[in-house]
Amino acid sequence: MKNKVIYFALLLLFPAFLRAADPVSGKKLFQARCASCHNVNKKLTGPALAGVENRRSLEWILSFVKSSQSMIKAGDKDALAVYNQNNQVTMPDHPDLSDDLIKDILAYVKEEAGKTPKDEAPFARPQQKQPHLMPLTIYNMPFMIAYIMLVIIIIILLIFLVNLKSYEKHMDDKRKE
Ligand code: HEC
Repeated sequence: MKNKVIYFALLLLFPAFLRAADPVSGKKLFQARCASCHNVNKKLTGPALAGVENRRSLEWILSFVKSSQSMIKAGDKDALAVYNQNNQVTMPDHPDLSDDLIKDILAYVKEEAGKTPKDEAPFARPQQKQPHLMPLTIYNMPFMIAYIMLVIIIIILLIFLVNLKSYEKHMDDKRKE
């Protein structure tokens, strides 16, 4: 009897040692921590993550997610290449994510890969899918200048209208006298 209890307890503990990656937990983590820059099947600020487990080793992915910049500084060629391909946007470090949690995310990515994205943009090239994500650089200077000019014109117009109104009032008062 006592043996059976011990055996049963061990059986219950067993799954704790054999923790399988959990795509449901991975989905939640992905949405909270990664989805602002990544989609599984589309390029956003960061690359589409579908198939990442084929292009990179698990070790590489774990260390990249924890601290991509450390890898780049250490001279990892793949890390540097993917950094340059993505306009040198720095991916934030996730030092609090354990290997298991990152594996959960990867399980979700694997599950999600291949499903067609729901909101497919009508552009052919992935870079063109995110025109609104253009960072504020010299390239949208003309837009900034046009915008500032518009604001100035509106302000001048408002000042003019206010002055016109008080002038009319002034004239009205004069007439009444
Ligand atoms: C602020 C935006 C941002 C967030 C948040 C973010 N990433 Fe990234 N990620 C990037 C960018 C940009 C790259 C491209 C490499 C670079 O620029 O350093 C990248 C690259 C990667 C790569 C390498 C892909 C490849 O093809 O080699 C992996 C893996 C990755 N991210 C996983 C994640 C995971 C997992 C999370 C969530 C825990 C996450 N990222 C959160 C922006 C982000």
